[in-house]
Amino acid sequence: MSDILFTKTHVGPYELEHRVALAPLTRMRSEPGDTPGDLMVEYYSQRATAGGLIVAEATSVSTTGIAYANAPGVYADAQVDGWRRVVDAVHAKGGRIFLQLWHAGRQAHPDNTKGVHPVAPSELASEEKAVTRDAQGQFVESDLLVPRALELHEIPLIIEEFRLGALRAKAAGFDGVELHAANGYLPDQFLQDGTNKRTDEYGGSISNRARFLIEAVEALVSVWGGNRVAVRISPSGQFGTMFDSDPSATFGYVAEQLNRFNLAYLHVIEPRIKGVVEIEDNAPATASKNLRTIFHGPIVAAGGFDRESAIAILEEGDADIVAFGRHYISNPDLPERLRHNFPLTPYDRSTFYGGDHKGYSDYPVYAHLDS
Ligand code: FNR
Repeated sequence: MSDILFTKTHVGPYELEHRVALAPLTRMRSEPGDTPGDLMVEYYSQRATAGGLIVAEATSVSTTGIAYANAPGVYADAQVDGWRRVVDAVHAKGGRIFLQLWHAGRQAHPDNTKGVHPVAPSELASEEKAVTRDAQGQFVESDLLVPRALELHEIPLIIEEFRLGALRAKAAGFDGVELHAANGYLPDQFLQDGTNKRTDEYGGSISNRARFLIEAVEALVSVWGGNRVAVRISPSGQFGTMFDSDPSATFGYVAEQLNRFNLAYLHVIEPRIKGVVEIEDNAPATASKNLRTIFHGPIVAAGGFDRESAIAILEEGDADIVAFGRHYISNPDLPERLRHNFPLTPYDRSTFYGGDHKGYSDYPVYAHLDS
């Protein structure tokens, strides 16, 4: 019955052996300098499979866009070597790995950005929290500030940071890059009218609000070509204190515009998830279904899937690949477990963010009870 999960498919130029992907997951375990170290190499290697797709966690392209302490970066050349070791470990297992390029915008915090005040399309604060370090070096949740609205002339500078991040990702050997345009971070803040009150060419109409996202995609495509670039969106997602007055028009427009780039895939988070919390168990996967009729390339669906619902969305033809987050955290051999319908190890939310190998690289693979 799980057969459809293990049929071949494509993203861009890459043939995949199965359709179970690792969703991008911030785990806040990079080393000083926001550089991936041995722990991250081990974690990604454990989750790599031959012909499987990994989307590496949100990785900042800018020193001004950091929401979470110890989230990795790709804003400096020194970070490339750390990432190369992660990529090499995944490739050694025959896996594919895309890097998620990220700017947190108003969700950034000055304690993570060397005092730089967060920027956004408009001066409206999010009710989420950043994670920073206190004087003792302990992680603490910090309230977000009212951001400074970006001046028109500053916008191309951020687009350029995305381009440079894409270049460094290429130098590190990644197979492609995914623009993080979901979960209320900067491209999403421009896109949705609850967070964008601008009156210049980056605000107002849907095409104006989508301009930042499209320009960021153009920057990534200029480095990678369209078929090794992906975009992640969260239509109607509530994380980040997000709101749009007409999500189907807004996200439909984006999906339609993205057709011209021949992207590797469009990554769609179903709105039944708010960040890391389920808000509507087993609600139908409507976002992927709606966008399927508009977007012509592969769709990766994410958000609240289990084995059964993953098989169902593939069988219905509403997505090509299913990305798993929380189950993949606690089951490093998730594709094998889904293939054989082995039981899943439950995840421990308390070790999602920050810390050491505990709750990160110490989850066991499934042990057969053969007797
Ligand atoms: C996430 N999510 C997330 N999304 C994203 O685009 N970039 C990221 O870095 C993160 N970070 C992150 C950390 C943790 C600990 C969790 C649990 C989630 C969202 C994630 O990719 C996924 O969309 C959700 O977890 C829903 O999928 P599951 O967990 O229901 O399979």
